[in-house]
Amino acid sequence: MKTNKEPYKILLLGAGGQMGTTLTHLKWPEAVQLYPYFHQDMDLKNHQALEDIFHHHQWDFVINAAGLVKVDQAEHMGKEPYLVNGLGVLHLGGLCQKYGVPLLHYSTDYVFDGQKKEPYTEHDLPSPLNVYGLSKLFGETALQAYTEKHIILRTSWIYGLYGHNFLKMILKKSREQEKLSIVNDQIGIPTFSEDLGEATKIITLAVLKNPKFSSWGLYHYAGEGATNWYEYAHFILETCYGSEKAARILTPISTAQNLHFNPLVAARPSFSVLDGSRIKEVFSIKPKPWKERVGQVVHRYLAKNLWNSERI
Ligand SMILES: NC(=O)c1ccc[n+]([C@@H]2O[C@H](COP(=O)([O-])OP(=O)(O)OC[C@H]3O[C@@H](n4cnc5c(N)ncnc54)[C@H](OP(=O)(O)O)[C@@H]3O)[C@@H](O)[C@H]2O)c1
Repeated sequence: MKTNKEPYKILLLGAGGQMGTTLTHLKWPEAVQLYPYFHQDMDLKNHQALEDIFHHHQWDFVINAAGLVKVDQAEHMGKEPYLVNGLGVLHLGGLCQKYGVPLLHYSTDYVFDGQKKEPYTEHDLPSPLNVYGLSKLFGETALQAYTEKHIILRTSWIYGLYGHNFLKMILKKSREQEKLSIVNDQIGIPTFSEDLGEATKIITLAVLKNPKFSSWGLYHYAGEGATNWYEYAHFILETCYGSEKAARILTPISTAQNLHFNPLVAARPSFSVLDGSRIKEVFSIKPKPWKERVGQVVHRYLAKNLWNSERI
């Protein structure tokens, strides 16, 4: 760690999103100072503005939590997802390379096509089914090609207390609608944003503490276990109302049925469980069982009485 009094300066992009907000609420050591930039302060597409904040500040580390994460809308947004998740990341990575600043960037399980039936490792070949996945793969590839000091953290199904996520959507809709149809044939792992935040912190500090750090590259991190969207939703509502009511509200449907009712949804992998062996081996970061974590977060909503608040 730095021996003088000045803390490490960490540039955080996408500070207003789920992960950005989680990271700003996280407890960081005093030796570290986070500089959050929101979408309105810094657009990844504005290459000149990005260049300026590298020119005017000496960053020790960059965390990129910014991105276009609207999976269904991305299908109909033309080149926008590629400009943000691809070209924007390429440019950011270029600046990190130019100024010698390490970069941690998030990516997604949706780079895979779901044909594999066991957890995906970092060695598996991506083959995205949707525009979002393809645009994220563009960003990954750019970093791998042009940015030596990079960590790409692929994750899946993020939920937590901030921003938009499936857990909140299910809680909210269960109060507004009597019936909800949820797909039961897409398998993945919910990941609690605070666990991903802690993993991010561990990696960031490992890099900052060790000038000779060399374990750059791609890592998978998600919750532990596997589930499908219907089972996940059932568990959320079961925790709130008990299993009978959860079963009355929820109807399992297939992806094909869902597509019939919602023809504009993007294709998604039927299986996108991530294998977290590498991150465990290199950083001793272990996944947390998804059910235990989801249960705890639902109880946090109930305890804080967010349940009845408009914030859900
Ligand atoms: N959410 C998931 O389930 C999930 C799963 C796997 C991987 N990931 C990855 O994890 C990362 C964080 O996701 P998240 O859930 O925190 O997403 P999020 O809540 O949508 O946050 C993304 C942030 O990026 C901002 N943003 C969008 N376009 C931008 C641009 N052109 N320039 C600068 N900022 C921009 C958004 O601002 P606006 O709100 O103004 O658009 C938002 O504040 C992303 O890289 C995502 O691909 C997410």
